[in-house]
Amino acid sequence: MGTTVLEEVVRNYRGQPEKLIAALLALQRHYGYLPEPALRVISQELRVPLSKIYGVATFYAQFRLQPRGKHTVCVCLGTACHVRGSEQIFHQLRRELGIEAGETTTDGRFTLEVVSCVGACSMAPIMMIDEDLHGRLDADKALALLTQYRD
Ligand code: FES
Repeated sequence: MGTTVLEEVVRNYRGQPEKLIAALLALQRHYGYLPEPALRVISQELRVPLSKIYGVATFYAQFRLQPRGKHTVCVCLGTACHVRGSEQIFHQLRRELGIEAGETTTDGRFTLEVVSCVGACSMAPIMMIDEDLHGRLDADKALALLTQYRD
């Protein structure tokens, strides 16, 4: 059996607490998020308290503590989208999905994210679902779109 990514990270950074971020980035690149069992191993091997690791993981927006959902719903809150009502769309999506930005629904279906501009301001307000860009939305249209991604 080959070396796992976790074993490789441990081998590279063992006893080097200053390499914590590099270790977390390597784990996240591989798993897509930071699984708790792996963080416990990192805590022991790099000699960084688990509480500090969670502090770092929640401070930096690029780290995720949950696996990503099957579909990623990303609402643009940039200026052009904001003035055309993207806050309202975002509010409705949070209510409908029961999660905040950065979280994943308990059924693993959707991850909700926000972005500050996707460069399609003329179609504001914008929402991306996976690779698909949807423009000129309102809250009702945004909720209706979700049903197309329920599979
Ligand atoms: S502000 Fe939303 S696409 Fe530019």
